[in-house]
Amino acid sequence: MKVLGIESSCDETGVAVYDTALPGAAGLRAHAVYSQVALHAEYGGVVPELASRDHVRKLLPLVRQTLAEAGLGVGDLDGVAYTAGPGLVGALLVGAAVARSLAWALEVPAIGVHHMEGHLLAPLMEDDPPSPPFVALLVSGGHTQLVAVDGIGCYRLLGETLDDAAGEAFDKTAKLMGLPYPGGPQLAALAEQGRPGVFRFSRPMTDRPGLDFSFSGLKTQVLLAWQQSDRSAQTRADIARGFEDAVVETLAIKCQRALDAAGSDVIVVSGGVGANRRLRARLQEMAAARGGRACFPRPALCTDNGAMIAFAGALRLVAGQHDGLEINAVPRWDM
Ligand code: KG4
Ligand code: ZN
Repeated sequence: MKVLGIESSCDETGVAVYDTALPGAAGLRAHAVYSQVALHAEYGGVVPELASRDHVRKLLPLVRQTLAEAGLGVGDLDGVAYTAGPGLVGALLVGAAVARSLAWALEVPAIGVHHMEGHLLAPLMEDDPPSPPFVALLVSGGHTQLVAVDGIGCYRLLGETLDDAAGEAFDKTAKLMGLPYPGGPQLAALAEQGRPGVFRFSRPMTDRPGLDFSFSGLKTQVLLAWQQSDRSAQTRADIARGFEDAVVETLAIKCQRALDAAGSDVIVVSGGVGANRRLRARLQEMAAARGGRACFPRPALCTDNGAMIAFAGALRLVAGQHDGLEINAVPRWDM
């Protein structure tokens, strides 16, 4: 089955074709992402109305480009998957309307996919994928969740953030240190020059049992350190390193606990923060120490993309699920 995937929940327009006849990573026939980062940078964050308008401009050209790269015509498609939520409602509606209309014209099934299920299943698109049961860590700009995955579609929430998401903490901390939007990757790059242990921030909520997170206090700690510092280039990098180490260590401690609770040794990680180099290394080390493994999608498939939507949609369509003729856009939606 060849499935077109469309992602437009926030500031990335993503399109891909996943072919279930080919194994693992080979199934991803083509994928393309157009990022609106430059458009929103001058406002310091995503402007929803501008995001919707830009998806309107970019989506159909990106569909054409992706099909051409896959060597397919539109008539070769067997289904269309799109992000139905959660996200910005105007942005979601653009992807949903295009996807549903294409499917209608081609007389193939359409399916609305949960954005976080797309992230969760993305590591399974790579070669040598893990099979459930396993534990998933979802770390994006809007979510931080630990999920026990008993099967495709069988998810149990083990823990989540009580305030800021991990990516949000990266972005807000970067902003208070004067780094340009979007700050997460910039802060991570700065931390590469930092020395470990010069600044030590707390590992929130690791001193008590439980699998929930809280990251909002960390940025206040960084703000205080930042205000009292000499703000030299080395100090900036040292603070960035201290912050990154605190987030990475907190996530690693909770992942370890979640594996213990679920009786598993396989942790699957995705969402934008899953692209973080130090987090990847730390979780690999943690999983290896207990004889298991940590699985990640390649960094480009950690952040928002159409491939994860094509893949998650393909799994559901192959299982015989599909939606009716309605155009689904669900801005708030529990997985
Ligand atoms: O999954 P994603 O692309 O979009 C959402 O669904 O939110 O995640 C974006 C988040 C942003 O907060 C961004 O700063 C963060 O992921 N991010 C990173 C890195 N790359 C992206 N955070 C830390 N280190 C990175 N290398
Ligand atoms: Zn996302």
